[in-house]
Amino acid sequence: MEFTGGIMLPNKTALKIIKKYIIRFEKGEDLNKFKEELIKSLLDHNLLIKTEDGTYTLVSENREELMHSKIGSLREGVEKFVIPSDLKKMKNPKILDLCSGMAYNAIAALHFNKNCSIDMIECCKEVLFLSMCIDIPYREHDIMKEKLKNFFRGNCEGEDKINIYANDARKVIKKLNNKYNVVFHDAFSPQRDSVLYTLDFLKKLYEKMEDNSILISYSSSIPFRSALVSAGFVISEGDSIGRKRGITIGYKNPSKDRVLKRISLTDERLIALSTVGVPYRDVNLNLTHEEIVKNRYLERIRMKEKLLSMGKYYSTKKVKLGKIDKKFLDIQDLNLNSSEIILKMRELLES
Ligand SMILES: C[S@@+](CC[C@H](N)C(=O)[O-])C[C@H]1O[C@@H](n2cnc3c(N)ncnc32)[C@H](O)[C@@H]1O
Repeated sequence: MEFTGGIMLPNKTALKIIKKYIIRFEKGEDLNKFKEELIKSLLDHNLLIKTEDGTYTLVSENREELMHSKIGSLREGVEKFVIPSDLKKMKNPKILDLCSGMAYNAIAALHFNKNCSIDMIECCKEVLFLSMCIDIPYREHDIMKEKLKNFFRGNCEGEDKINIYANDARKVIKKLNNKYNVVFHDAFSPQRDSVLYTLDFLKKLYEKMEDNSILISYSSSIPFRSALVSAGFVISEGDSIGRKRGITIGYKNPSKDRVLKRISLTDERLIALSTVGVPYRDVNLNLTHEEIVKNRYLERIRMKEKLLSMGKYYSTKKVKLGKIDKKFLDIQDLNLNSSEIILKMRELLES
């Protein structure tokens, strides 16, 4: 993947190719005249890949990394984001579609609930443009293509059912005035780009969410889940789709009828008691990934020293194996959700 200003972007060559066509489109040229040429050019360079459901994804510099998983770009949108959010049952849901990319998640959302309104945030205009040029087998793709056409031609005025913000989500989030029922969090993995997984960004998201709203991410990373808990979310394990670990669901003040599934006992302990649970931080929402990772590394050292001085340090191995004070294990036996368990264990650790 390509880094620009500390943010990870899709493949540089692909973006360069697409940019040439954006310029032609903005000058008024008809998309149908060149979209096949654009697709052919990306395919010829092995930059566009057909996934198992027949929809396309973009490749990165590192051939192992794609924008979507191989099980299918559209399938991912449906199974990892739309179905777990229970969108179908919602009345006029307001969705924040973070890292919209080729708009698969947004199109899938419209397909399952035509009454949803969506704020889309994507920092890379090229991938949004690509969405207009590929085939996505849902009728709602036509609605999205029309929206994107107006966006690229500068014909978007005022608030609409679908709004597109082409910038770093950290900048956009500060300006949004809406409150959301559903957040699709579809950034690249925190190991490669942590900027949208920090406690500080998640706190901002939390502020913009309604009560009983839901945030969904395919990432099950420990520092991310830890940050969700610290930001106030009630976390729940989702199904694993095309991966070993389940997706992560975060609720804001969930209603009593929400079915919450605990994350693994090991993960609860790692989040609460080990330095692996130290979240990524970006207080002013402007650091690069490298700065965030370095700061977290230093914070882990500080935490270890503090716990050692209190006689409460447990190695990651001990935490994983549960070779810790029984008082912590007793908390895990309580009939509480994972966030409540983690907060209680943290309280005990710090007492
Ligand atoms: C995994 S892909 C998302 C795929 C997308 N949801 C779809 O349906 O096609 C991640 C996307 O996040 C975008 N991105 C990365 N960092 C970002 C940031 N800080 N703000 C906004 N978008 C970002 C990338 O350009 C990329 O398109």
